[in-house]
Amino acid sequence: MRWPNFSVPSAADDARRAIGARGGALRFDEFMSVALYGERGFYMRSGRAGRRGDFITSPEVGPLFGAVIARACDSWWRELDSPDSFTVLEVGAGPGTLARAVIAAKPACSNALRYVAVEVSAEQRALHPAGVESCAVMPTEPFIGVIIANELLDNLPTRLFVFDESWREAYVAWEGGRFVERLMTCRELPRCLPAEAAHSARVAVQDAAAHWVTQARSLLTAGRLVVLDYCTSSPMMCLRPWREWLRTFTDHRRGVHYLSAVGEQDITVEVALDQLPVASVVATQAEFLIEHGITAMVEEGRAAWQQAAAAPDLAAMAMRSRIREAEALLDPAGLGGFSVVQWCR
Ligand SMILES: C[S@@+](CC[C@H](N)C(=O)[O-])C[C@H]1O[C@@H](n2cnc3c(N)ncnc32)[C@H](O)[C@@H]1O
Repeated sequence: MRWPNFSVPSAADDARRAIGARGGALRFDEFMSVALYGERGFYMRSGRAGRRGDFITSPEVGPLFGAVIARACDSWWRELDSPDSFTVLEVGAGPGTLARAVIAAKPACSNALRYVAVEVSAEQRALHPAGVESCAVMPTEPFIGVIIANELLDNLPTRLFVFDESWREAYVAWEGGRFVERLMTCRELPRCLPAEAAHSARVAVQDAAAHWVTQARSLLTAGRLVVLDYCTSSPMMCLRPWREWLRTFTDHRRGVHYLSAVGEQDITVEVALDQLPVASVVATQAEFLIEHGITAMVEEGRAAWQQAAAAPDLAAMAMRSRIREAEALLDPAGLGGFSVVQWCR
């Protein structure tokens, strides 16, 4: 007896369908969009940050990162003369871990604070904590406050260009039972592409990230946009092996080529700072966290642990954990080397 085919549709099926609908090839950013955010895309099913997820981000290291962000929010709130209503809009909020830690840190601005968490994945929105306004898309009403995006821009769909005697744009087609890359000439080349490059050099053209920054800034009546991410530049992309800056992840491991395992792995691209609107301040994450008091918070944690070490309770353990968390958050070869890019208004 033959069993009926119970195979469930996948993101790969969706990508194949989209390729057909586009006459045989899908631009790379459209392909990335289906793979990550289509109905069966990576983030729309189970993909996410966290120990039980696929990769660790700064908020997922532990509550210290959120506690420092809470302090930063206080200083930004005071800078604006402590308004009665102060919105923190976090975009790409994942399961709400940063929101949870900021609220738990009880910042001085708590009474004025309206925390809005924007996350496209319904599965992750369902995990957002109480006290947070959870939504799928950015609000449209301008406000006073701060917009924070931790590791969002690297996940926005990007266009991809390859130097093959001249710059050509990467598309994805379906041939011989697999996804393949097709290079096509582009009528108007993006200005960030250098005139010359080595054969097969690649550059991600991050129109969506630049557009998002412009849109986010326009929402602020007063305040700042704070983006934390791993960053590079278009010329550096050209010079470095592309697999260093265009990566895939799943289950806490590097994934396979982005044309394989479609929808089953994250696709992430370092952010080319030269392609974004000019920022007011750029610092490393380590510099930013030190500016906002991480060193004193670690010392406070160490002292609290030493006092309670003879009969430690959960609170003392959490204070001790600050020491290890800070090591990870400040590591210049890791999270500490990320960029914190701010646009002030
Ligand atoms: C790498 S994860 C980072 C999650 C969280 N910020 C953290 O640091 O742990 C990126 C998140 O952004 C979400 N995302 C991507 N594009 C988005 C958009 N346009 N609006 C809201 N969320 C988005 C994804 O679904 C994913 O949960």
